[in-house]
Amino acid sequence: MHSPAFLSESHVRVVGSFEELIDTPFRDGVNALCWPRTLDGDFGEVVARLGLGQGITTLDAETLHALPLSSAGKKAVEAMLADHRLLTEHGLEPVLNGINGYVQPEETGPVRTDVCSFHADSATVEVDTWLCTYHGDSSEGLPNEQAIRRVDLPETRALLLKAYGGADDEAFREWLNDHYYDLHYAALPDAKPYSFGIGHLWRVATLHDGCAVPPCIHRAPDPVPGRMRLLLIS
Ligand SMILES: [Fe+2]
Repeated sequence: MHSPAFLSESHVRVVGSFEELIDTPFRDGVNALCWPRTLDGDFGEVVARLGLGQGITTLDAETLHALPLSSAGKKAVEAMLADHRLLTEHGLEPVLNGINGYVQPEETGPVRTDVCSFHADSATVEVDTWLCTYHGDSSEGLPNEQAIRRVDLPETRALLLKAYGGADDEAFREWLNDHYYDLHYAALPDAKPYSFGIGHLWRVATLHDGCAVPPCIHRAPDPVPGRMRLLLIS
């Protein structure tokens, strides 16, 4: 088996425990922490039993416990709920999601602002993003030096200025921010996005005041009809 590509990323640090994942600060360019795990259980069975409708379904313990599952399916449910508990106990607000495609993104103007476009999460306070894909296609990361903000692409910026109808000034930059345009990135030619993998728990840096590192650029995978995902996000 290949070793995962994220192991060779200089902005990713691999840790060996949940405590280390919590305690390791983001610094020296490290903006993503990964606790690699091989989880026991049949997550595919959980997805099959859920019979997910189109879009994102929030999964609670009651729903998951009510599923008729084999012991392998039950193990998968316990692994997801254990993560949910662990993060909740640390004051976070994790959500377990079953994802069956995304509802068609609204027309957002000259720049894509959906979760399948490379982006940075932003926060008004010091808060990180936590992620684990249990089943299906995984989220992807993009090294910062292989990315450019879409608003810095001359063609895109010209389109944005036209849509804004004003000059490239402070008010324009605020307008970009209000519409989340400045959080989205294009991959540079020859960029090599990497997969967050399955079962690994990630803590990644968001864009917020006082953060010592640039935000971790990531995206959700493009949905493939019939390919469901199980995900924890906080
Ligand atoms: Fe995100």
